[in-house]
Order: sequence, then structure tokens, then C-alpha cells
Amino acid sequence: MRLPRLLRRAPLVLVVAAAILAGPSVTATARFDEQGALMRPKAYREWVYVGTPLTPNELNDGEAAFPGFHNVYIDPQSFARYRQTGRFPDGTMIVREFVGISSREGPSGKGYFMGEYTGLQVKLKDAGRFSYEPGNWGYFSFGRRSPVSQTAEVRRTGECAACHLAAADEDTVFTQYYPVLRAARPEPGKRG
Ligand code: HEC
Repeated sequence: MRLPRLLRRAPLVLVVAAAILAGPSVTATARFDEQGALMRPKAYREWVYVGTPLTPNELNDGEAAFPGFHNVYIDPQSFARYRQTGRFPDGTMIVREFVGISSREGPSGKGYFMGEYTGLQVKLKDAGRFSYEPGNWGYFSFGRRSPVSQTAEVRRTGECAACHLAAADEDTVFTQYYPVLRAARPEPGKRG
């Protein structure tokens, strides 16, 4: 017996409807390999840039934990939600990319000027995968040299999250150092 055309397509229609109702999912930006390691996000330099902490060796007894610039980016969909609600939605990815110091003097004066990329870290908010972590953030390091690795395993809470929980201003994110996020955050009364 031949089923009416719409009925034959029902499973597909249901899957599409469920995906639309579920809203943006974590997989919009985060991808994992078969072993469960996070794959390095590709286009993060086109995401929303939020700020650059700078910790030169000179100011840290000759040996900063992460010498140089730390450029921080957030995925655009989550930035848009943050601007509306003042919260980081499930699926948020934030990247911290390390850049070395190439010189201390240039035509614009004495200072610190960016050199080469030297490492990459990522945090991903995913209530399904990281329900045991503060704020449901999983932490990943893709290495401290260039080229960085293609995949990274999730870190243990004590390795990364504990310091963030103790010292960061907002949901374990160091918004106190990210002027772009502070400027985007809605007033408490206007949060959607
Ligand atoms: C001793 C404290 C400390 C530890 C441990 C730590 N971080 Fe952070 N992290 C910071 C600070 C401070 C910042 C703010 C930006 C900066 O100074 O670079 C930050 C920023 C970040 C950011 C940018 C988003 C945000 O939350 O502000 C990511 C991503 C990140 N860290 C990943 C990691 C990963 C991965 C690990 C573990 C391998 C780790 N961190 C361990 C202190 C820490």
C-alpha cells in the first residue's frame, strides 16, 4: 500500500520541527570527534572580539605564566544572546588565543607590540556534557606553541575551573577584563 506523501515524510518533518523548537544547539559551533575530544574551532578570529589582557615577563619577575597578549573571542550567536539577557547561554564558546611580544618600541612609541601566535584555549558551556562543572563550563587547552593541536580533551575541574570560579566576575568569565562584554551587558532592569 502506498502511504500518502506527507505521511511518508512525517519522520523528516518531525525531526526538523523538533530542531526548530529546541532552538540553537551546542553543535552550532562546538564539534567533538569520536573519542569525545573537542575539535579546534576554525573561524574564531571572525567571532566577536572582547578584549586582550597583557602579562609581560618584565612585570612578573621575568616569568609570566602566560607571557604576552591574551586575545579573547566569543561565538557570535552567544554574544547576541548575552546582549539581550546578560547571561551566557548553553552552547557559548569562548576562545583565548595567546600572542607573543615581538618588540617593545615602534613608530608609535615605547610599548608592547604583537608577534606570533603561541597557544590556544577554549571554554564551552554545555549543561549536557559538563553538568558537574561550575556554570557547566568545560575547559580545553590546544597547546602552548604553534601550530596548536587539532583536538583537546576536557580538563579536570581543579586544573582550570577552580581559579576561574574564585576570581572571575561573571559566571566564571573574567568580564572585568573584557570591555566589549561590559558595554554589551544590558542594565539589570532591561534584561530579556
Ligand atoms: C590561576 C588562575 C587560572 C587558571 C588555573 C586558569 N585560568 Fe583561564 N583565565 C584566568 C584569567 C585571569 C583569565 C582572564 C584573561 C587573562 O588574564 O588572560 C582567564 C581567561 C580564560 C579564558 C577566556 C574566557 C574567560 O573565562 O575569561 C579561557 C578560555 C581560559 N581562561 C581557559 C583556561 C583553561 C583551558 C585553563 C586550564 C588549562 C585555565 N584557563 C586555567 C585565570 C586562570
